[in-house]
Amino acid sequence: MEHSLSIDTSVGKEEIYLQVLNQLRALVQGEEDLIANLANSCALLKEAFNWWWVGFYLVKNQELVLGPFQGPVACTRIAYGRGVCGSAWQQQKTIIVPNVHDFPGHIACSSASLSEIVVPFFGSNQEVIGVLDVDSEHLNYFDEIDAKYLEAIVAFF
Ligand code: SME
Repeated sequence: MEHSLSIDTSVGKEEIYLQVLNQLRALVQGEEDLIANLANSCALLKEAFNWWWVGFYLVKNQELVLGPFQGPVACTRIAYGRGVCGSAWQQQKTIIVPNVHDFPGHIACSSASLSEIVVPFFGSNQEVIGVLDVDSEHLNYFDEIDAKYLEAIVAFF
């Protein structure tokens, strides 16, 4: 099926997220392949918000391995408990980092990234199967609104 994006980015953040959720619902409907759905999700999010980096890491053999993303090249493997991504996996909850330089152990894939949010997502047994990572070149860019909607987005997977 052919899909075209039509997101009005002139509105507020919550309104953009609501459009993203609607588009995503249509995009993933009838498609069970996880990688295909993750790939389209980051394309949609990049189009909607033009973040510095947005992408997924997937749990494989006890570590996080880079999955579909939009943005500059990134580190490919992250250990359990390491960095923001490994910490979100370990704590099984969303982590918002207003300033990456204040987060002990932050993994700097790009020196341009200044703030970050990482949202874990879960398999059928409530185990973490991956994380959504979003980076911004601006300080203090993410808040509870982002957490709420990004958690709703990863609930599709
Ligand atoms: N900063 C992340 C690593 C992934 S990159 O930002 C894409 C972390 O500390 O886990």
